[in-house]
Amino acid sequence: MKFMRLFIVLSASACILSGSAFSQDPPVRAEDHKMDWFADAKLGIFIHWGIYSLGNTTESWAFHNGDISYPDYMAQIRSFTAKSYDPQYWAELIRKSGARYSVITSKHHDGVALWDTKMDGLSVVKKSPAARDLISPFVSALREKGIKAGLYFSLLDWSHPDYPGFKGDSSRYDARKDTIRWGRFLDFCHGQIREIITGFNPDLVWFDGDWEHSAEEWRASGIRKMILDNNPGTIINGRLQGYGDYDTPEQSFPVSRPRLKYWELCMTMNNSWGYKKDDNNYKSTYEVITIFADVISMGGNLLLDIGPREDGTIPGEQVNILTELGKWTGKNSEAIFGTRAGIEPGHFYGPTTLSRDSTALYLFLPGKVTGDVVIKGLYNKIRSVTELGSGMKLATRIVGKISWSSVPGLVYITVPETGQDPYITVLKAELDGPVKLVKAVPFTQ
Ligand code: GLC
Repeated sequence: MKFMRLFIVLSASACILSGSAFSQDPPVRAEDHKMDWFADAKLGIFIHWGIYSLGNTTESWAFHNGDISYPDYMAQIRSFTAKSYDPQYWAELIRKSGARYSVITSKHHDGVALWDTKMDGLSVVKKSPAARDLISPFVSALREKGIKAGLYFSLLDWSHPDYPGFKGDSSRYDARKDTIRWGRFLDFCHGQIREIITGFNPDLVWFDGDWEHSAEEWRASGIRKMILDNNPGTIINGRLQGYGDYDTPEQSFPVSRPRLKYWELCMTMNNSWGYKKDDNNYKSTYEVITIFADVISMGGNLLLDIGPREDGTIPGEQVNILTELGKWTGKNSEAIFGTRAGIEPGHFYGPTTLSRDSTALYLFLPGKVTGDVVIKGLYNKIRSVTELGSGMKLATRIVGKISWSSVPGLVYITVPETGQDPYITVLKAELDGPVKLVKAVPFTQ
């Protein structure tokens, strides 16, 4: 990442100039530890809420793609009431799911702000019957419950008269040719970012829509600086043309472990980000939990989306998934929160995680298990295996250990059929020290 490279060059030259090249540790800055909570958090809840939440159109894309006219799309603002909006209830539901953070759309690509922006008149505060700031009560409710608050913000704004892009097949002008007009938009856009960071001091800013312009055009380094000047602890997602802190794959399930330190899969529960009346294609709780287990076993976070209705009520299917998920995360919390990516897949047929010191190995067993499960290539001695939730101690057997060979035997663990979790049973194997695995079996002819 560009800013990282710049930082390294600057700090290296500073050391050389002072004559103490690398003899001292660089001072620890607040920014160095800012990813700690994120790495431990594992689960976040994404919220797409806006004038599209009447449930008839896709968020913003509906007019951009020509499914509905722009005036008809924007007319929805007159029916956005937020009349049953209960931020305390939202925050409680999120807490119950086990999530440690939440990210809400402060403004989507349609340009409609959910807070009282002073930069223009396009907000639910000024134009909708909701007529109030919806962000601040939610941020407060989250914080009261110890949940980190993130704000989604669309850099591109298809409603703004000075923004070049509008519909998929037409744009207002070329930003590279009319730099004065583009500069006006940038002042507006940076001004809104300033409003949300100074107004709400978010723990995380989740940008979107950076793809229409380059880092230089967005003045992305300036945006990053503004955010960190306000609060060096604020995390920035990866959609800022190279100036963010972590990667955000969308709706794509990793098959093998990404070689990234921090990443977060954002995913819908059905096929839509915002509430859609006719989208009943929900993933089952089992599917959500197995995807989540895969994500954490590969060292990532899951940002699971809900789409409340325009009045602020949350569809039953979504409440149900969050509640069921919460029972599972509650029962297995030590295998989830604060853990690190598990062992390479060849060692165990299923997702795994490791405690931070890697002396506890957690094995995730999706579905119903009949018989034994096996760990391969583990040098450690296993002190005990416990089934989380029931607390039952399970028997292990070492198979195929040859006395003259350094290759460890197979560890078979017997999993009783009674007491298994309806979604994923989790076992904890306590090791005699930090995990040590066979790298490759030395075959000889
Ligand atoms: C995409 C879409 C948007 C959605 C976002 C969530 O970039 O433009 O509608 O909000 O993904 O990740």
